[in-house]
Amino acid sequence: MSAPTAASPLADPAIVPDPYPVYAGLALREPVHWCEGLSAWAVLKHADCAAALRDPRLKAERMEEVLEAKFPGQPLPPESIYHRFTKNTMMYTDAARHDALRRSTQAGFTGAAHEHYSRVIERVAADLVASIPRRAKELDAAALAAELPVRSSVHAFGVPEEDLGFVIPCVDTLMTYWSGPQDQPVELDRLLALLTDLHAYALELLEGKRGEVLPGTVIARLAAAQDGLTETTPEQTVHQLVLLFIALFAPTTPGSVSSGMLAFARHPHQIARFLADPACVDNTANEVVRFNASNQFTWRVATTDLDIAGTRIRQGQGVALFLGAANRDPDVFERPDVFDLDRPNSGKHLSYGLGMHSCLGRQIAHLQIKWFFTALLTRFPGIRPAGEPVWNPNLEFRSLRSLPLRLT
Ligand code: HEM
Repeated sequence: MSAPTAASPLADPAIVPDPYPVYAGLALREPVHWCEGLSAWAVLKHADCAAALRDPRLKAERMEEVLEAKFPGQPLPPESIYHRFTKNTMMYTDAARHDALRRSTQAGFTGAAHEHYSRVIERVAADLVASIPRRAKELDAAALAAELPVRSSVHAFGVPEEDLGFVIPCVDTLMTYWSGPQDQPVELDRLLALLTDLHAYALELLEGKRGEVLPGTVIARLAAAQDGLTETTPEQTVHQLVLLFIALFAPTTPGSVSSGMLAFARHPHQIARFLADPACVDNTANEVVRFNASNQFTWRVATTDLDIAGTRIRQGQGVALFLGAANRDPDVFERPDVFDLDRPNSGKHLSYGLGMHSCLGRQIAHLQIKWFFTALLTRFPGIRPAGEPVWNPNLEFRSLRSLPLRLT
């Protein structure tokens, strides 16, 4: 990925708390903008991001480029766990291979499976909110949001509770790598060792050699369907499960839930709308993730020279599709900077991507958001900010580090 021009405001961590004015300015002046810090073209308009996500000339297979950007001059042999994993998971593959890998996980994501997850997640969210002490006046809502996917991972996803102490720190460390070409605080050898450990764990889990996987969960369904898979190998099943662990414990779900709490706390009228109108409840998950995408941008690599909105992208260059900017595009969303549950087209957001790579966990994420706010706002209809929120410095996976809320 070569670098045609100079500094970009998108690489400045100071914009993380509120990147939207910067996006809006760039979208007007330079909607396809070279960002040196990302070594990629940033695409800011909704129509351009949506078209790029569906464009087969932009490949999702990009982890060789990420490795070279993060660990220059340290190539890995093809048999390395890094290449075996990244070249065999749906997120970083294209065309027929991608489709076969994604199909191999189908059993965990059917309509009937989601009906079961809905019932389970409703209970998980209710229990989580019920765990807030009766006399509590304030709360660190970011910590509460972090707990929701952890509890869901046990009851809906099937991670044995006793294994959380291994899986979560493992994914947290791997996530330092699993964003784009930014500074990398963890050595390559350590990352490879953790990736190997997570694979060994996933294999043992599928073979029934670890803790108890609850029946009806994603993992139980994937394990039961394994023998019937004809298009993919058993090793590829293990790779998909490792990818699912990373997606499950990534900061995306906590980022969406906590930024949603901030949005409600700052817009009390929207709490009233939520409590008054079932249509607003139904639209909450979409409007929450539209208002703040927790994965602000995702990546592709150009396989050939091509144009995006009149800008020439050269073969081999990276493209960062700014989903968070697309979600505030005034050409698609009226008054885009307003949090509004009555918005008729919140569902046009790009927070889960679009096309063949659109998020496999989207329905599970939506169930978590919907049931969490149902439990929280019924019990605490008067949540308000109790101090300044603190954001983690990562724009790509944008999430709150702390969110003091007053409870009434
Ligand atoms: C609010 C929470 C979430 C957000 C914002 C989110 C966002 C995304 C986005 C933007 C993509 C597309 C990436 C691309 O096109 O490059 C994606 C893909 C994916 N997500 Fe999620 N995600 C969330 C939760 C989850 C959960 C809970 C799971 C696991 C159950 C999951 C599993 C996946 C998988 C497997 C893919 C790859 C799909 C493919 O390549 O075919 N996600 N997600």
